[in-house]
Amino acid sequence: MPEATMEQADLLIVNTSQVVTCAGPGPRRGPAMRDLGAIPAAAVAVRAGRILAAGPEPALRARFAAAHELDAAGSAVVPGFVDPHTHVVYAGDRVAEFEQRIAGATYQEIMAAGGGIASTARATRAASLAQLVAATRPRLDRMLRLGTTTAEAKSGYGLDPAAELRQLEATAALDASHPVDLVPTFLGAHAVPPEYHGHADAYVDLVVAEMLPAAAAWYAASRFAAAGTPMFVDVFCEAGAFDLAQSRRVLEAARALGLPLKAHVDEFSELGGLALALELGAVSVDHLDVTGPAGVALLAASPAVAVVIPTVPFNLGSTQFAPARAMVDAGAAVALTTDINPGSAPCPSMPLAMAIACRYQRLLPAEALVAATLNAAHAVGLGQRVGSIEPGKRADLLILDTPDWRHLAYEFGGNLVRTVLKAGRPV
Ligand code: NIG
Ligand code: FE
Repeated sequence: MPEATMEQADLLIVNTSQVVTCAGPGPRRGPAMRDLGAIPAAAVAVRAGRILAAGPEPALRARFAAAHELDAAGSAVVPGFVDPHTHVVYAGDRVAEFEQRIAGATYQEIMAAGGGIASTARATRAASLAQLVAATRPRLDRMLRLGTTTAEAKSGYGLDPAAELRQLEATAALDASHPVDLVPTFLGAHAVPPEYHGHADAYVDLVVAEMLPAAAAWYAASRFAAAGTPMFVDVFCEAGAFDLAQSRRVLEAARALGLPLKAHVDEFSELGGLALALELGAVSVDHLDVTGPAGVALLAASPAVAVVIPTVPFNLGSTQFAPARAMVDAGAAVALTTDINPGSAPCPSMPLAMAIACRYQRLLPAEALVAATLNAAHAVGLGQRVGSIEPGKRADLLILDTPDWRHLAYEFGGNLVRTVLKAGRPV
């Protein structure tokens, strides 16, 4: 084709072993989770931060005149990871609790004794906005180097009106100043704060009457609403946190405000939170470690994404992993996450979540990759924008250090992400 009639691209990524598109429409469910839409020896054309096309290199070279070329040196290209469940915005750490657990205390015992989430809430309440941002930024740096280009970020360590809003503010400040794009979630109902000890219903009153409306108003004026990025509302439905009736109050109040829903359910006990969240139309239901066959059947019949978190049982030294194999076999849409937080999963690595999921949940590497990209994007409401290498989507791509992308799950403990492209630029 003569140069003049060629389409203009800013960037052509060439000399790949394969481009693993993970193309939608999604979320992919059941057997479709094994279909990666991989194109051997493909190129990717990018303009203005978005993907123009992915296809065989000769065809793209004939179609596009590119200002720059990026040589993948025979490596595989995959979509940037979307981490759909994080508590990355916090102050302090819980390394002392790590030692207590090694000595025999359980996560729930530590929580019941006033540690756990309450301990991080003390540190987070004491932190200024600037301190919270500064404490979180290096964690986002690590996530980015490991290939995460979009992450959900929950509040839930403030647990009072001002501190919850400060966590949301920190999320917005980081979204504005760090390459990882963030999706905010209001999780005021993460734990009953110490000043409401024994009065969980009264705290739920505060969440419903004051904190949720304030969060909704904050969101409406935020950079997220302006960008069309949703803000979710989440609740920790668990013994020692919020029971089924309290969880229903929080989720129904959020729904009445027009906010999309998520829920932490079936992490340690099956309280019925899964059925509740699905009944109320939650976009995702997360954890699911103790979900039984009836819950798996509910997931298979639901449009919600099942976000499973293998890093949590791993970190807690448990073998009670969510039955992700059964979920996929039943036809559910499964996503993977790190759940990065200071207690149950101090882990920035989506490849490690994939590696554990393949070993202990028996997902195939292909299923784990779809779960970490396309399905994770759908779990945070951004399935039309990120999570796959398709025309029109943001050019968030990873050039790996291997021609065979399966090494992402096969190897562990290192980092096979050589280059992260965020909106078409190496970061
Ligand atoms: O997703 N389960 C509740 N919330 C977090 C843990 C937060 C923490 O331990 O600080 C989770 O595992
Ligand atoms: Fe969580």
